[in-house]
Amino acid sequence: MIPVAGSERIDSSVAMAAGYHASFFSGIGGFDLGFEKAGLKSVFLCEKKAFCRRVLAHHWPSIPVYKDITNVDPFNIPEADVWSAGFPCQDLSLARMGPRAGLRGNQSGLFHDFAALVRAREPKIVVIENVHGLLTSHRGRDFTIVLKTLDGLGYGVAWRVLNSQYFGVPQSRKRVYVVAVHRDPEGAGEILFEPECSDGDSSQSKRNGKESPSLFQTILGNPRTGPLVKGRAHCIYAESARHTGTDWSRNYVWYPSGRVRRFIPVEVERVQGFPDDWTDVQVEGREDPDSMRYHAVGNSVTPQVAEWLGKRIVSYLKATREDSLRGAA
Ligand SMILES: C[S@@+](CC[C@H](N)C(=O)[O-])C[C@H]1O[C@@H](n2cnc3c(N)ncnc32)[C@H](O)[C@@H]1O
Repeated sequence: MIPVAGSERIDSSVAMAAGYHASFFSGIGGFDLGFEKAGLKSVFLCEKKAFCRRVLAHHWPSIPVYKDITNVDPFNIPEADVWSAGFPCQDLSLARMGPRAGLRGNQSGLFHDFAALVRAREPKIVVIENVHGLLTSHRGRDFTIVLKTLDGLGYGVAWRVLNSQYFGVPQSRKRVYVVAVHRDPEGAGEILFEPECSDGDSSQSKRNGKESPSLFQTILGNPRTGPLVKGRAHCIYAESARHTGTDWSRNYVWYPSGRVRRFIPVEVERVQGFPDDWTDVQVEGREDPDSMRYHAVGNSVTPQVAEWLGKRIVSYLKATREDSLRGAA
């Protein structure tokens, strides 16, 4: 599919793509980086936070970054096969103490603004990513709303919880991925689930019935001089550099001398699967560079998970194009 609407904003290399991707709630581009590795070219970015917009502009200089999904005219979005949305999780996350506003919250409720754009343009494939809390918020009613909304717009829907630790990154990070395919009841399941027998994405799977040693207990590094680190990090959360709570105190680096420190920003990028210094961009005004980077990386999608999904989407798009060519012949 060749981008049409707003095509003056698209660089010429997109003509080579296996498909086109419009990214909403783009953050620092976890979906974009992973999908591009799979052959899907980003043609649209939308992100509210100025720091994240600078990261996006640094890596995708030819794509303008829309600021606010609530102001996007659906007919300014370039034609794209795949739309992704890791909508804000603040009102759904279990990390937040107290009652969760869920999809009624003014952050996570932005899902409805995304759905309105989907209604107007009906992209072939929609991918949604969110925290595990999406499944339980309001006793599952919020997740039902997400599924019913997509179903009501003519999409076949499937979902799966994927943990980044099974995609080659040293971090346990469980997230819900919803895939929806327009006018195809089977497509979403074909994209998200492998028919072939595999070890799967299950922390329960054991070879020969034996427990494998936990990487959380494995220690890597030089035992004489340090630094030392656990073989697998706990889930990285969005937080500031001044944060002293549970996250960094679970993920730390230590030295035989007794010194202990938190991960530095580039280490957080590594355990989240980004290239080094992906978020090392100019800060402005009173922004604290480390806080900006911790926060943005903690909110992001693991690019390797997006790449796996992207490859499966590309295979699906290829197969459906071949089918329609055969049908036309
Ligand atoms: C969970 S994060 C998604 C991160 C992204 N998937 C990544 O890989 O970095 C949600 C993002 O939505 C952005 N956001 C919040 N309100 C928005 C709005 N009204 N319009 C566009 N983006 C918004 C936040 O700044 C945040 O970066």
